[in-house]
Amino acid sequence: MDEAVYQAAQLLLGAHHAVALVGAGLSRESGIPTFRGEGGLWTRFGEPPMNQYQRFLADPRAWWLQRLEEGQRPSEFAEAIQRARPNPGHYALAELERLGLLKHVITQNVGNLHFEAGSVNVTEIHGNRTKLRCVACGQRQPVRAFTPEEVPPRCPACGGLVKSDTVMFGEPIPPEALAECERQTRLCDVMLVVGTSGTVYPAADYPVRVLMQGGTLIESNVDDTPFTPHAAVVLRGPSGVLLPQVVEAVKRLRNGER
Ligand code: APR
Repeated sequence: MDEAVYQAAQLLLGAHHAVALVGAGLSRESGIPTFRGEGGLWTRFGEPPMNQYQRFLADPRAWWLQRLEEGQRPSEFAEAIQRARPNPGHYALAELERLGLLKHVITQNVGNLHFEAGSVNVTEIHGNRTKLRCVACGQRQPVRAFTPEEVPPRCPACGGLVKSDTVMFGEPIPPEALAECERQTRLCDVMLVVGTSGTVYPAADYPVRVLMQGGTLIESNVDDTPFTPHAAVVLRGPSGVLLPQVVEAVKRLRNGER
């Protein structure tokens, strides 16, 4: 195995509070396209409007009717994310949590794959596409609770406006998710940065804060990012291949096999 894999394993074994910051690259091997870079959705079709949320608030009925219509003819991304299953990279993060070496996952991904892979301590900073959320009280419910009779749907708890739990461009990150991400970042001494281009805030700020508080970065990515020059260890290649190798290296080191 690559020396960098063992170095990453040693950093995780020596960490007090390792946290993973995850982006679309981790789900690439589950068949979900990334947003930027080669073959990315935004690369191919252009970025969505930055005021998506304001547009939703201006006419929630129109947004829901369009979503119902799209449900009849799902986009390539919607089909990919519906078909997607966790890949070995997701399972590796869940295993690192089970081994007590990864305390939390902050994910920018909305596809629910971390939970399907068995991870428990996860904060979905951009929400979860399998859930709905009330704009007023924040209560979440599964998408299947939505009945097209009422458009836009109303919150069963407070009657507020309901939208997808996925955070739209222009929408504030839900406060409880933001607070947990900030808390985890403050506690973090080793951040495993996986498959993110580091272009969207506040998530892109967390590795910088870890460095500023004297912490260490491990980066898993197929390409360079703004974090690469600051990473103590760079795992260059698909996370679905390299993260399982890190788990294997951790086990060998724990057994004194190296
Ligand atoms: N393994 C590891 N990294 C990979 C892989 C792979 N198999 N394939 C691609 N990557 C890397 C790319 O090199 C890139 O650095 O994953 C990153 C994907 O970057 P983006 O597409 O920008 O995704 P992300 O960083 O998650 O975007 C953040 O932007 O559009 C918003 O809400 C959206 O959550 C998303 C946010």
